Amino acid sequence: MFTFILFHLFTLQALSQTISNPQTDYHTPYNFVEPFAPYDPTRASIFRYRQQQSVNLGSWFVQEQWMVPSVFECAAEPKIAEIDIANGGCNPQAILEKHWDTFITQEDFNYLASIGINTVRLPIGYWSLGPNFVQDTPFANVSSVYENAWPHVVRAINMAEASNIAVIVDLHGAPGSQNGQPHSGISDGKENLCTNSTYQEKTFQVIGYLASELCFVSNVAGIQLLNEPEDCSELANFYTLATNVVRNACSVPDFPVYLHDGFDLDRFENYVSAKAPDFSVQDHHSYFVYTPQDDAEPADNHTTDVQTTVTTQLASANDTLPHNLIVGEWSCALTPDSMKNESDPERARRNFCLAQYAAYTQDTPGNSFWSYKKEDCDPDWCFLNAVNNSLPSSFFFYGSGPITSEHYHLIQLLEPEVLILPSSQLVPRSTTHFPGEALSRYRHRSYTIAHRRQFSRDSTSPPTSALSSDTKNHQDGYQEGFVTAQKFALYGGSKLGFVGQYIWTGISGVGRSSQEAEETLYRQGFMQGLRDAEAKISGIVGQL
Ligand SMILES: *[C@@H]1O[C@H](CO)[C@@H](O)[C@H](O)[C@H]1NC(C)=O
Ligand SMILES: *[C@@H]1O[C@H](CO)[C@@H](O)[C@H](O)[C@H]1NC(C)=O
Ligand SMILES: *[C@@H]1O[C@H](CO)[C@@H](O)[C@H](O)[C@H]1NC(C)=O
Ligand SMILES: *[C@@H]1O[C@H](CO)[C@@H](O)[C@H](O)[C@H]1NC(C)=O
Ligand SMILES: *[C@@H]1O[C@H](CO)[C@@H](O)[C@H](O)[C@H]1NC(C)=O
Ligand SMILES: *[C@@H]1O[C@H](CO)[C@@H](O)[C@H](O)[C@H]1NC(C)=O
Repeated sequence: MFTFILFHLFTLQALSQTISNPQTDYHTPYNFVEPFAPYDPTRASIFRYRQQQSVNLGSWFVQEQWMVPSVFECAAEPKIAEIDIANGGCNPQAILEKHWDTFITQEDFNYLASIGINTVRLPIGYWSLGPNFVQDTPFANVSSVYENAWPHVVRAINMAEASNIAVIVDLHGAPGSQNGQPHSGISDGKENLCTNSTYQEKTFQVIGYLASELCFVSNVAGIQLLNEPEDCSELANFYTLATNVVRNACSVPDFPVYLHDGFDLDRFENYVSAKAPDFSVQDHHSYFVYTPQDDAEPADNHTTDVQTTVTTQLASANDTLPHNLIVGEWSCALTPDSMKNESDPERARRNFCLAQYAAYTQDTPGNSFWSYKKEDCDPDWCFLNAVNNSLPSSFFFYGSGPITSEHYHLIQLLEPEVLILPSSQLVPRSTTHFPGEALSRYRHRSYTIAHRRQFSRDSTSPPTSALSSDTKNHQDGYQEGFVTAQKFALYGGSKLGFVGQYIWTGISGVGRSSQEAEETLYRQGFMQGLRDAEAKISGIVGQL
């Protein structure tokens, strides 16, 4: 009863403040850079390599007028981009800080975790790093608006951490603008990054800062160098230099670097493949609302395209190792033209949306819906309203909820009962209780493989002298794959996503990358062990 009254008093008070002073309802500035949790390499490795079920946190740190019109009320003309808010009236700093404090909160992260979302893509602008990073840019004379911006970004990452959610920090607005679009922060329509070395230098400074601050943060799953840059000839070279900046700033050799392909899937598929074993990830965006051809196609035809052409395109990257390609933005939106001849538009949109979800989940290690939230929360673009509508009601890999302690126990006890060998010999596995040694042995990737080699020489392992080296490589891979699936599942029901990269990183970590034939068998065994264990885990979760 007491709590009840207090609660109401509090609400009334908050309400009266809001009414009396809507724009500058301003609380204590949040200007303290929180520490990050201590770096945990196992956690970082799981978060960076697992399959991502992700949403974008659009319009939180980079404002878009169509998503959050209320934040633009006092903006300067033309009222379309972040810069217009900063140049506008009604105390832009207070408006933005209030938005950062309220648009998305810990409750949102808790909600996302409760339905199986394990990653968020977090668009930021270079202005989000604070006044030091905006000199000689259009934000220079409004730099003080952003004096508390970086502490808010850090807090956002920590809120995600508290919900076991990974973050991909995405440089959506680069100095000079990489695409001339309002969503890069500017409203003059000019792209200045491709050819201006001054802006490129500034962008490298931003990227270097992000890498040095964030690569030892366990739940930061990567940095995205640029969002939707113009597909200019200089882009690939820019990415090479920017990746070097990350590698020099950060001593975690497999810290993931994301790069958007400028909507040129083939060009950057080749680029990323050629970079292997460097952990670079191509980000491709998939929309069906921006061209005259999009308008001309009815919704059902778009759905068919997703199931055929798009699926084939995405899956073709399955043939190249590693398959580092995510769909970092997509939505359920279709144009009114695409909808107008559909007899049942609701059904058409749902089919279209679910077809995309299926394709992106099956054929890539990560997909991220655009966007989590907007003021007019329509189910085309607003995840909160699309869930259990055009999208599934939950996004877990195993079953429809989190892994329970009962699941956990049974998953831990799973063992590869037989080794499936290339020559179709079946050799019983030793009776050593491998997972019973607890998770402490599943440390870092290289450690695990090094340990595997050690383990295979142990007296407790199966007698290896009788096996051919082919058989042995396949068997090593099988065991490693099986245990990897267990390890990921035991970490909150995760699944390995970047499979090729994971194997590759592990192999190069122990200097085996030159032995092609040996590795092919190892890989095949790994895939088989991984899929076998995943099937068994699905069985366990399905039964309980
Ligand atoms: C900052 O400079 C730009 C360009 O000169 C100008 O349009 C804008 O009004 C200035 N903003 C403020 C807050 O003075
Ligand atoms: C590049 O941008 C800087 C900063 O705005 C500007 O001073 C310079 O003239 C530009 N250089 C070129 C070659 O356009
Ligand atoms: C849509 O699909 C139908 C059935 O396959 C086909 O007949 C029609 O030509 C397609 N329309 C467009 C605009 O692609
Ligand atoms: C809808 O039907 C009209 C009239 O038949 C046709 O002109 C138009 O191309 C169709 N639009 C789509 C997207 O199918
Ligand atoms: C691509 O690879 C994944 C993982 O092995 C697999 O589940 C999926 O079916 C493959 N897609 C195609 C079209 O081969
Ligand atoms: C999904 O929607 C259906 C029908 O509206 C409802 O019965 C069900 O409880 C919802 N499920 C979840 C998990 O919200």
